[in-house]
Amino acid sequence: MMPAVALGTWLGNSSTGRIAPVGYETEQAVLWALEAGYRHVDTAWSYHVEDQVGRPVKTVVDAYNLLHEITTTPKLWNDAHARSAVVPALRASLAQLQLSYVDLYLMHWPLGQFENGSYDSTHYLETWRGMMDAQALNLTRSIGVSNFNKVMLESIRAHQLTKPAVLQIEWNINLQQPGLLAYCRQHNISVMGYTPFGALMDKRRADSPTRIDDPQLTKMAAKYGKNVQQILLRYAVEMGVIPIPKSITSTRIFENIEIFDFQLDESEKWTLRNFDRGYRTIPQLKWSDHPFYPFEKMPEYTTTTTTAAASTSTVNTEKSTQQVISEVDVNDKSARMNFRDIKI
Ligand SMILES: NC(=O)c1ccc[n+]([C@@H]2O[C@H](COP(=O)([O-])OP(=O)(O)OC[C@H]3O[C@@H](n4cnc5c(N)ncnc54)[C@H](OP(=O)(O)O)[C@@H]3O)[C@@H](O)[C@H]2O)c1
Repeated sequence: MMPAVALGTWLGNSSTGRIAPVGYETEQAVLWALEAGYRHVDTAWSYHVEDQVGRPVKTVVDAYNLLHEITTTPKLWNDAHARSAVVPALRASLAQLQLSYVDLYLMHWPLGQFENGSYDSTHYLETWRGMMDAQALNLTRSIGVSNFNKVMLESIRAHQLTKPAVLQIEWNINLQQPGLLAYCRQHNISVMGYTPFGALMDKRRADSPTRIDDPQLTKMAAKYGKNVQQILLRYAVEMGVIPIPKSITSTRIFENIEIFDFQLDESEKWTLRNFDRGYRTIPQLKWSDHPFYPFEKMPEYTTTTTTAAASTSTVNTEKSTQQVISEVDVNDKSARMNFRDIKI
C-alpha cells in the first residue's frame, strides 16, 4: 500500500525557470502539501533539498503523531553506484531527512558516474545488491528503481534478486509506455510517474506534441469543473500510475490533490490514450553513450496526426500506443522513414 499521489521536490522544473535550492521554497511547499493531505514526498540526494523536506515532515509528524502515515522517498545518486557506497549514501540522506529509516529508497538511474562526471561502469545489478544490503539493515522497508527499462527489470528477475517494489519513470499523456506498465502490473511492481505534466506547459519546448490549452483537454476539464492539470493527474491515477506533481505554489499544490471527486469515462480515457507520442520530456541525452543508458536513441521524428507536431526527442524503448496501433517497428531502421509518415 502506498499513497496514490506524491509531491515532487525537484526545482529544475519551475514556472519561473530553474531555481537553485537556496531558500526555503521546498520546505514551505512540503508544509502546504502535508496540510493539503499529501502523505508522500518524492525527493533525491541530487535535488539538494532533502534537509528542506526533512524539517517540515518531522515537525508535522511530531506535532500530530503521524509517524506511520507520512512517507518520504529519497533516491540514490549516480555517484554512489559501487555496492559498498549505497548504504553510506542512504545514511547520508537519512541524516538530511532526520529519519532513522524510510519506507522506500530508489536507485535514481541505472547508470553510474563519478563525482567528476566521468562514467562509472559498475553494473546496475551490483548497485541493486547494495540496495538489498540497505534493506537488510532496515534502513529502508522497500527498495525500487527509477528510469529502468524492461530489459533491466528482467535482468534483476533473471538473477533472482529482490524484486523492486516500485519503478519510477517519466509518465504523462505524451509518454504512456503501455508495455512497461503492463509488465509492471504482471509482476506486481507499483509505478510512480514523474513529470506528469510533460512539456505541455513549458513555453521553451516548442516541440511539445501537446499544449495545455488543447481543445480536447480543456473541454474535458470544463465538463468536470476542473483544470487540465487535474485531468492529467486523474488520468494517471486511473491508469494505475502514482503521479508526482511538483509545485512550490500553494494554490497549485492544493488543486493537484483535488482529483478524487470525479472519474473519467471510458471514451475520455481513450481520447487521452491517443495523446501518446512516445515523446520523452527528459531524455538525458548527455548520458546517451553510457553503456546503461536506458532509453532508445532515436533521430528526430514527425507524425502527421492532427495533434502531433514535429518533434526532436528520443522515443521510448517500447512502442507508444500510436506506434502499436500503426504496427510500425521503431527498431527496424528500414521502418523509420515510414514512422515519419504514419497516418492514424
Ligand atoms: N526519477 C527521476 O529521474 C525524476 C525526473 C524528473 C522528476 N522527478 C520527480 O518528479 C517530480 C515532478 O516532475 P517535474 O518536476 O519534472 O515536473 P511536473 O511536476 O510535471 O511539472 C512541474 C511544473 O509544473 C508547474 N505546476 C505544477 N502544478 C501546476 C498547476 N496545477 N498548474 C499550473 N502549473 C503547475 C510547476 O510550477 P511551480 O512549481 O512554479 O508552481 C512546475 O513548473 C519532480 O519534482 C521529482 O520529484 C523524478
